[in-house]
Amino acid sequence: MQPWPDNAFLQGYYEPLTAECTAPDLVIEGEIPADLNGTFYRNGPNPQLPPKNEYHFFTGDGMVHAFTFNNGRVSHMNRWARTERFKIEQRTGQSLFSGMNPLETPPQYLDFVLNDKEGVANTSIIYHGDRLLLLEEGHLPFEMNPDTLESCGAWNFYGKLNTTMSAHPKVDPVSGDLLFHAYMATGPFSDDLGLYRVDAAGFMQEAHVFKAPYAAMVHDFVVTENYILFPVMPITGDMGRAMEGKPPFAWQPEMPTQVGVMPRAGTPDDIRWIEGDACYVFHFMNGHDHNGVITLEACHFDSPPLFPMTDGTPTPPNVHPSLARWTIDLNAANPRVNMAYLADHGAEFPVIDPRFAMREYSHGWYTSSDRTIPARIPGSDVVYNAIVHFNVKTGQADTYAFESGYVAEPMFVPRSAAAAEGDGYVLCCVYEITTNTSALCVFDAQNIAAGPIGRAHVSHRVPVSFHGTWVPAKP
Ligand SMILES: [Fe+2]
Repeated sequence: MQPWPDNAFLQGYYEPLTAECTAPDLVIEGEIPADLNGTFYRNGPNPQLPPKNEYHFFTGDGMVHAFTFNNGRVSHMNRWARTERFKIEQRTGQSLFSGMNPLETPPQYLDFVLNDKEGVANTSIIYHGDRLLLLEEGHLPFEMNPDTLESCGAWNFYGKLNTTMSAHPKVDPVSGDLLFHAYMATGPFSDDLGLYRVDAAGFMQEAHVFKAPYAAMVHDFVVTENYILFPVMPITGDMGRAMEGKPPFAWQPEMPTQVGVMPRAGTPDDIRWIEGDACYVFHFMNGHDHNGVITLEACHFDSPPLFPMTDGTPTPPNVHPSLARWTIDLNAANPRVNMAYLADHGAEFPVIDPRFAMREYSHGWYTSSDRTIPARIPGSDVVYNAIVHFNVKTGQADTYAFESGYVAEPMFVPRSAAAAEGDGYVLCCVYEITTNTSALCVFDAQNIAAGPIGRAHVSHRVPVSFHGTWVPAKP
């Protein structure tokens, strides 16, 4: 193959792996707790071949890394998602589908791209209804064998899912239901949203398709005990703009944020659209409601990175997200989305104790940036080199920063089913710049500042990944 082209998202931490490995017994430094048993899956973009078009790192082929913890020992395995796109490129030996704009596809493959159900399966991963599903947001989920990481193909919930599925479903810890949304649900750049509810056994129980105020990238959504929120923020998508050679997705801050609020007991006909300032949030931490007042925490950008303005000019460089609280008082005469920052340090890739999803909670963990440590990505000072534990009730932050490491999204694992909220472990895959290798680090969730209590060293790099999931070992 050719060398990787000169692109910051194909170098260093971001440089794709060209191999699939199985490491049965990683070298342990410190101690991996013996009561931490299960598999931590990560998913991220890892292009199989050097991209032909300008590379956007949301479009690389999905690669899953699985770290299995067994009585103090850790194994590691990585495999590509063998999607239809992956197999076509493997067969032809050339990059065909690398761009953000589907119209850049060679004409003989355009119908394939516009009708493809599998995409690149690179964004997230969940285990629900006894299936391991890789999620993107422009296509169906993609199933993998959880033990071997063998690709199984697209999954449509026994024929019930006919639209895309987002990468940020929510599991109700009380019912076990999986709720998820879809955006541009009926085709590229459509203004249709979808809402789905799948029961704990994996059968679809509710499916709705309805109109958004405008066609936008709706990466995440929020579920509370009594409401479902669809936050439509102005990274807009426009096929006409793409056909004029302008950005298919662009930041359009003259459009307001509109949050659709739907009672969980209702239907999309009951949605109230409530306005707020233009902003962008890729990831919400959690939300809850009390007497008609909805409160949620979000990793909030005043303007987003990675997307240009509608005329193609860049957005301001080096923007940072911070944790903000959004409140919506449904009892008000003219409710509005109120937004206020909770802290001034960076906050992205938030996770919670999953037993407290959708309900009142205290504890969250996320990646952050210690900017006293120099960034090493050319042209950017946005580097996630720190893990923060934040108490949303007290505002207290507990932080650990790596001197020469990049951190990926953390994962919280309760110490036991009966443990108090936030009592457990935080897992994080950390890339060490000086050695070009990675380690799976384990923290005491209530003492992040003490640093990792154990590290399982991989002998090579685990490139950047977006999201992960924890699957406890079977008893
Ligand atoms: Fe995400």
